[in-house]
Amino acid sequence: MATTLQEVTDAQLSRYADLIYRHTGIRISPKKKTLLSNRLRRRLRETGISDFDAYYKTLAKLNLDDPEWDAFLQEITTHETFLFRDESQWEWFRDQFLPGITSAARRGDRDRSLRIWSAASSTGDEAYTIACVIANTIVNYRQWKIDILGTDIGIEALEKAKQAHFSERAMRLVPADLKRRWFKQVPGEPLWEPSPALRTMVRFKQHNLMEPLREGVFDLVFVKNVLIYFDGESKQRVVKNIQSVMKPGAMLVTGAAEGISDILKRNMEQQRPWLYRLPE
Ligand SMILES: C[S@@+](CC[C@H](N)C(=O)[O-])C[C@H]1O[C@@H](n2cnc3c(N)ncnc32)[C@H](O)[C@@H]1O
Repeated sequence: MATTLQEVTDAQLSRYADLIYRHTGIRISPKKKTLLSNRLRRRLRETGISDFDAYYKTLAKLNLDDPEWDAFLQEITTHETFLFRDESQWEWFRDQFLPGITSAARRGDRDRSLRIWSAASSTGDEAYTIACVIANTIVNYRQWKIDILGTDIGIEALEKAKQAHFSERAMRLVPADLKRRWFKQVPGEPLWEPSPALRTMVRFKQHNLMEPLREGVFDLVFVKNVLIYFDGESKQRVVKNIQSVMKPGAMLVTGAAEGISDILKRNMEQQRPWLYRLPE
């Protein structure tokens, strides 16, 4: 199959880039020609589709929730994540955010419920970090109604998130005492799974950040290491979607290189380089 050995042409690249952008908000740079060609070749081999144009036509006809779109997105996005990524953010969560919430509940200023959204959760490492810190910090966490929602566009990543078997590598930053208390080894495997107490707090569903999330409102949202691939217009759309599901006074934690601080500063108070608060 001679065609599959070639690179995509500029015209093909631009058609693919448009298609990807329309579906996901992700901008494929013209510099990614070789990368896209390599990844496409893998999909051609897997599907038996003869060339780049035929594969394009197939994708363009399919819905984003079709397994082939998922397989394609797997190829062009990164799912790299691990528990307790960005240590200082978890210190803030444990030492500032959670004590603020629990003392407000003690004063009777709020009920004992807490809703947190891990947006672009990939394989669930961030969502389980949230659950672990909550269980370890709020002594009577069982008397709270805790809802941690992890969402991602990638179906395969979500399936791994639901299974929640984490490698030693993914667990490398989990403090030893927390690892002992809240995770156990999967029998016969070099993998760790969260305790049932953590599992009951966390759920996952597929969601594209370019679309509104219809899951009620949240006290805290994490959006990290995803918008870096989006252009300005898509970033604005995602920020609008996120802010529309934040309670007044809710907090937003971002990644270090998200590139949305200018957009966020328009109507939120920046408290740290990566932390924002929506006004009451
Ligand atoms: C590098 S991971 C980030 C995981 C986690 N937030 C972290 O910081 O460790 C990026 C994730 O963004 C997801 N993603 C990319 N575009 C998306 C979109 N339009 N909507 C939702 N998720 C998306 C990918 O599927 C991938 O799992």
